[in-house]
Amino acid sequence: MTNAPVLDVKQLRTSFFSEDGEIPAVDEVSFSVNKGEILGIVGESGCGKSVTSLSIMKLIPQPPGKIVGGEILLNGENLVASSEKRMREIRGNEVAMIFQEPMTSLNPLFTIGNQLIEGIKIHTKIGKKEAFQQAVDMLKLVGLPRAEQIMNDYPHQLSGGMRQRVMIAMALSCHPKLLIADEPTTALDVTIQAQILSLMKDLNEKLDTAIVLITHDLGVVAEVCERVIVMYAGKVVEEAPVMEIFKNPKHPYTLGLLQSVPDVRENKERLYSIPGNVPKPGSIKTGCRFAARCEFVHDRCLTDNPPLYKVNGAEEHTVRCFLHEQGGAVSG
Ligand SMILES: Nc1ncnc2c1ncn2[C@@H]1O[C@H](COP(=O)(O)OP(=O)(O)OP(=O)(O)O)[C@@H](O)[C@H]1O
Ligand code: SF4
Ligand SMILES: [Mg+2]
Repeated sequence: MTNAPVLDVKQLRTSFFSEDGEIPAVDEVSFSVNKGEILGIVGESGCGKSVTSLSIMKLIPQPPGKIVGGEILLNGENLVASSEKRMREIRGNEVAMIFQEPMTSLNPLFTIGNQLIEGIKIHTKIGKKEAFQQAVDMLKLVGLPRAEQIMNDYPHQLSGGMRQRVMIAMALSCHPKLLIADEPTTALDVTIQAQILSLMKDLNEKLDTAIVLITHDLGVVAEVCERVIVMYAGKVVEEAPVMEIFKNPKHPYTLGLLQSVPDVRENKERLYSIPGNVPKPGSIKTGCRFAARCEFVHDRCLTDNPPLYKVNGAEEHTVRCFLHEQGGAVSG
């Protein structure tokens, strides 16, 4: 059995072009997702998480945006080079995406059933009756009670959590190999958020769908992911299995994110947030992009760009910080 990844992103560069020139929102980002795996992508607002996921779907608005470099290999097929016609076949069939606010992705004028059946019929050749049954089955699979009745409901008749379940049902109805979920629970309250996350984990196990889960919250990553990449200002700054990132975090930015995870047991609000802001893409020309916020900053950080280093003594753990150069550089 081959163990080729479902998704292999190599040196992806996505930029926006304005009067001020090129804005590199995603700058040589590489990562892969294995079959059936849940990978987390974490980082604060503006780090390039959504631009990365929209690039994979080839949904970057062009202009002003454009994928300017790298490869996105989906089961070995390079999507960067694929035509829009081919992408329409791929979207929904092989890779599906769900977004933060399900109301914006559902059409308020059509019933849930209509939208589900339409989606299924676009991608498969089955008849209306079969598509109806498949839609009902999917609603049941995502844990919605009274599935037949919900088929006749309009989006506004459902709660936020129910709408997100419908979106997941829609995304998974054609059994994609990969699901990209961009902050799927941010708009929901904490209890519903936990239910949706556990649903995603459950479906990942049942259907063997690989998932890329994008979030700004390491607590969410801890709940469901097996591996995580941390993004900062358009770059991957750390990658490791989830247990490793919690036990042995290396990048000063990851340390800051971990300090900002709320302690659920003590029912406390977030106590800490990293001082300062994510720099605008392209605003830092030389040196480490985290330097202005880093308590360990030293002279070299201001002049040289740190490459990714292997973490000494750890498996599958890399970090972009000069403090860890003894592990040896793995890439630029
Ligand atoms: N259409 C666009 N035109 C110009 N710049 C853009 C556009 N979309 C995104 N960007 C820029 O790309 C950078 C990365 O944005 P992105 O949306 O990927 O961040 P994010 O990590 O998803 O943040 P959030 O957590 O807020 O969703 C930001 O600096 C943003 O301003
Ligand atoms: S390279 Fe320097 S500035 Fe960047 S995270 Fe490491 S210590 Fe901090
Ligand atoms: Mg985003």
